[in-house]
Amino acid sequence: MQSTTSNSIGLITGPSGRAIAQPVDPSLLEALYQHTSLERVSSAQYLAMSLWCLERELRGFSSFYKKESLSEQEHGFNFAKYIIARGQNVVLDEVTKPIQDWKTIDELVALSFQMEADVTTSVQQLYSMAERTNDTRTSVFLDPVIDEQIKSEDEMAYLLGKVKFASNDPSALLIIDNELNNN
Ligand SMILES: [Fe+2]
Ligand SMILES: [Fe+2]
Repeated sequence: MQSTTSNSIGLITGPSGRAIAQPVDPSLLEALYQHTSLERVSSAQYLAMSLWCLERELRGFSSFYKKESLSEQEHGFNFAKYIIARGQNVVLDEVTKPIQDWKTIDELVALSFQMEADVTTSVQQLYSMAERTNDTRTSVFLDPVIDEQIKSEDEMAYLLGKVKFASNDPSALLIIDNELNNN
């Protein structure tokens, strides 16, 4: 009887020679790359927001957006790590130049809410692609990401509501700024 060796198993390997348990559908892989970029673009955008606030003595807002910038960087890294865990190499795109001009803090906070909503839409698209291609691993990977997005949208909507309520009254804005500083 012939003995089975690991060589006779016929492992599928990725571009860097890593063993692959289940190949990722090419369009899903492309969408995962695009989402990794979106997280990196969000990180750069939040950094720009943090600096805009710092220039205007809004140190609480600035530290809030700096934390957001770092967490988006972490998200981008997590997606890259997942792509590698699936045996693929990571292809990085250019990070586009962030927006740096806002007339009011309302505009800036409104953009941050929209960004979070856009990221959730992108995760939702990944989710349906994963389901369509029977890629349970990706669905499971995305579950906590969606959970975190719901919290981020809620947090940004709350901040936007408060800022709108203050309607550019400097003393009210400074109170919100102080609250953010203490978080
Ligand atoms: Fe993110
Ligand atoms: Fe986020």
